[in-house]
Amino acid sequence: MASVQISDVRKSFGGFEVLHGVTVPIEDGAFVVLVGPSGCGKSTLLRMLAGLERITSGTISIGERVVNDVQPKERDIAMVFQNYALYPHMTVAQNMGFSLKLRGADQNAIDSKVNRAADILDLRQLLDRFPRQLSGGQRQRVAMGRAIVRDPQVFLFDEPLSNLDAKLRVAMRTEIKELHQRLKTTTVYVTHDQIEAMTMADKIVVMHDGIVEQIGAPLELYDRPDNKFVAGFIGSPAMNFLDGTLKVNGGAPYVETANGAKLPLVDAPAASNGRPVSYGIRPEHLAFADSGIEAEVAVVEPTGSETQIVARVGNQEMIAVFRERHPIAPGDRIHLQPRPDVAHLFDRDNGQRLRA
Ligand SMILES: Nc1ncnc2c1ncn2[C@@H]1O[C@H](COP(=O)(O)OP(=O)(O)OP(=O)(O)O)[C@@H](O)[C@H]1O
Ligand SMILES: [Mg+2]
Repeated sequence: MASVQISDVRKSFGGFEVLHGVTVPIEDGAFVVLVGPSGCGKSTLLRMLAGLERITSGTISIGERVVNDVQPKERDIAMVFQNYALYPHMTVAQNMGFSLKLRGADQNAIDSKVNRAADILDLRQLLDRFPRQLSGGQRQRVAMGRAIVRDPQVFLFDEPLSNLDAKLRVAMRTEIKELHQRLKTTTVYVTHDQIEAMTMADKIVVMHDGIVEQIGAPLELYDRPDNKFVAGFIGSPAMNFLDGTLKVNGGAPYVETANGAKLPLVDAPAASNGRPVSYGIRPEHLAFADSGIEAEVAVVEPTGSETQIVARVGNQEMIAVFRERHPIAPGDRIHLQPRPDVAHLFDRDNGQRLRA
């Protein structure tokens, strides 16, 4: 195990910079998840950690050692890719033991490590099969087994579950988390999946266009996003945003929208009356009421455990989520009342969170 320090790392491909100075401290034994839109640089960062891609500037350290110029095989890192990259002509056992064989380990040592990993991952029955004879989930486990066998300082995962069906994803998610709790190996995990990020991470790194927007514990990002990007990215369905003007003139502050809706707040930054703001409210923090934001129901989506309602407010759309069932149909006019204690306030121009 080891800590990992990514310091002011930049990466250019042919003069075009795709990472603009990324700093991420990773504690020994942590499970860190990188999230962000497609093309923001997650895989590039992971590949640089693995040593598969050169760093244009900045430093990456593993433990005490700067690894900028260290070869991948000398870094003591194991990476699991989205497509698993198993050798088709080798059995499961051979796939798992291959890196040890390359290192010149003797067959007894290889067998004992492969068997131990096979036990952890429930692969004992499959050791003599070839990859083509396995299901997607089983292949995924073999790819993880191959990483475990190496007993590395750091695990890197690049969307390892994205080829699996929904049910298997959930099962594997739990398995990876349990594995981490057992081995406590420092892990950096890339995913597109909100739920994966929220449930697996000690710490989430939100990336966007080659920069880090925010780093924090999952619920910290959810409850106190630093800016509108993070607020809109973390959480599904996404936070609603309504533009308006801050009104702070004695009494409780509120945001007034162009069509006259008054959005309640508990408090507001000092001397901010008249400031243009964006009011953020999560779908589960809206309630039906006799007054509040006037909206027209566009779509009703019951999932069984809850109901999502897409409603139009002027030319904007809002999403509300309810646990209880309401007799509501498209075309109905409703009022949605935001909970002021969990409303978010952002500067309308730069999107930064405004703190009272
Ligand atoms: N070898 C390369 N040559 C040139 N540009 C590249 C290369 N690899 C990646 N890029 C560019 O760098 C940027 C970041 O790519 P990267 O693969 O890291 O994104 P990502 O966040 O992993 O996206 P996704 O979620 O789609 O996997 C993209 O604009 C991509 O086109
Ligand atoms: Mg990628």
